[in-house]
Amino acid sequence: MDVYGLIGRPVEHSLSPPMHEAAYEARSLDARYVTLEPDPDRIEEAIDGADALGVAGLNVTVPFKQDVLPSVDPTPTAAAVGAVNTISFDGGTPEGHNTDTEGVTRALEHHDVAIEGQSAVVVGAGGAGRAATYALADAGAETFVANRTVERAAELAEEFADLGVESGGLDALADWLPQADLLVNATSVGMDDPDSSPVPAELLHGDLAVLDAVYSPLRTKLLRDAADVGATTVDGAWMLLYQGVAAFERWTGVDAPVAAMDRALRDRL
Ligand code: ATR
Repeated sequence: MDVYGLIGRPVEHSLSPPMHEAAYEARSLDARYVTLEPDPDRIEEAIDGADALGVAGLNVTVPFKQDVLPSVDPTPTAAAVGAVNTISFDGGTPEGHNTDTEGVTRALEHHDVAIEGQSAVVVGAGGAGRAATYALADAGAETFVANRTVERAAELAEEFADLGVESGGLDALADWLPQADLLVNATSVGMDDPDSSPVPAELLHGDLAVLDAVYSPLRTKLLRDAADVGATTVDGAWMLLYQGVAAFERWTGVDAPVAAMDRALRDRL
């Protein structure tokens, strides 16, 4: 039996176990997916120990996505984002991937939303904002990142300067959004609060595709406002799904049963 898992704190309510176990069942794989909360001061030992135990793969979530970097050989994407959410153990140094970026691009592709050559606005410059900004810029979008704390957006844009990323405060949204094709919310605004949105409704328009990283609630105020003006809306469960799909495919080399994984997620949201 292959053992996969998730490390983070907290991980108790994670939706990854049912999503991955639905995939094992659909593909008749003899595998289990467990959640683990390692000692934050012993992350390196935890990764070495998982490797020694024969764990097949680990997902990594908050607050350990940067902490595992010294223990892995990061892919170019993981190195650029500066965060790892998926580790594969295939002998030798564990490989560190960042499939959060694929969560963004594949969620949009699933909805037939083009990225290359489009104008994209990311709101938020934390961990989710970094992954979304890199994913869109690397996929060929002209990418703008806005953040409440403008210095954080400026730092991010400077890091991704070779991809042409530009930055601003939340006030810049009024300048950028009328010409934008894509909008991604990578802030926590709207989480557990059905009435708050990071973007004023009057800035939204029908030619936008709006992806919200928030998945609880699924229909955030941002997505409801976007739907009201005829924009394409993509909820946060799609990002969660496709980062998991990408991890599953890396680990197993098998095409992911996307519909079964999606059902397992949405049954619980
Ligand atoms: P994550 O890793 O999930 O991105 P984070 O690093 O804590 O989490 O980042 C949270 C993001 O939500 C940040 O962009 C934050 O803006 P600041 O950098 O200015 O803190 C944004 N955010 C949180 N609450 C916000 C609010 N009420 N209005 C606007 N942005 C908010």
